[in-house]
Amino acid sequence: MFLVASIFFFLINLFFQNALHSYLDFSFWWILIFLMYPIVHLLQFRINTRATNYIYTGVILLTIYQLLFIFVSLFAYIVDIIFKILIPMSYLLIFNLVILIIGFIYSEIIVVRKLSINSPKIKQKTRIVQISDLHAHGISSESLISKVAKKVKKQKPDILVITGDLFDYYGLPSKNSLKEINALKIPTYYVYGNHENMLLRDYASKLIDDSSVIPLVNENIKFNELQLIGLDDCNNGCLNDGLKKQQIDNEAYSILLQHKPINVENISKKGIDLMLSGHTHGGQFFPFNLLLNMTWKYLGGYYRVNDMNLYVSRGTGTKSFPFRLFIPNELTVVDLLPQTK
Ligand SMILES: [Fe+2]
Repeated sequence: MFLVASIFFFLINLFFQNALHSYLDFSFWWILIFLMYPIVHLLQFRINTRATNYIYTGVILLTIYQLLFIFVSLFAYIVDIIFKILIPMSYLLIFNLVILIIGFIYSEIIVVRKLSINSPKIKQKTRIVQISDLHAHGISSESLISKVAKKVKKQKPDILVITGDLFDYYGLPSKNSLKEINALKIPTYYVYGNHENMLLRDYASKLIDDSSVIPLVNENIKFNELQLIGLDDCNNGCLNDGLKKQQIDNEAYSILLQHKPINVENISKKGIDLMLSGHTHGGQFFPFNLLLNMTWKYLGGYYRVNDMNLYVSRGTGTKSFPFRLFIPNELTVVDLLPQTK
């Protein structure tokens, strides 16, 4: 379906080359996209069928194609200025299509990232698998979560944690979405993300409550040598209030689950051993990640903040559109190990 859509859009663009030359000054195509984008969002939100899903994906891909072309045009312009080489428009269109296809393939790949942490509070190895930001929505939600559940199972974790934005609202997730997660029979803890809290909180809560997944909404639980604390997604001040109400057990290895990697310096002074977050998608695609690096101090990966370990997942799924570039989806495996001498 993707290839057909890409070739279709490619041919449209090739056919309307003259329009493309001027589309940076808000040509017909831009106006069409800006009109189509909210319409398909609304359609996908209201009518949840395979057909609306395809239309939605097609328009999103067309939008990415057009947006990408800004960067490609800019690149061609720089080459022209510096090297005095005029790259033919057809080459640019093919280059753009290739990037779109690579980006789509990247959006389908899930890599496993491994992290080991030693601590005197740990006597027995504990394996935690983190998934985050799947943004499962519409009729594809069940198959997406099943695909991830299979990957989780291979890692043989003691605990599975989900750090928010498991679901998204553009197309209600299927009622059987969590079937394969239930079948794992692994203790699973979850915190809500901003996308669930926006328009989907009641629906998502129902799916979670009917499953084996345990939501942690400004509460904490003990799990063997661990203390798991989960904060509901909100702003800095409200996260602070939520954390203040938690009695942190200094004897246990404390793990904070919080969707957004914010309020980090403050949290690092509260005796938390490990903070697990997501939300940023690691920027999702190059060169957008370079821009986000300026606004997110903790964009993705492992950080040491004072005495606290922080891991920010780059996301196990894609946000809004099936496109990633050089920043694949990830499943994070954290091994907590006894202190070595
Ligand atoms: Fe988020």
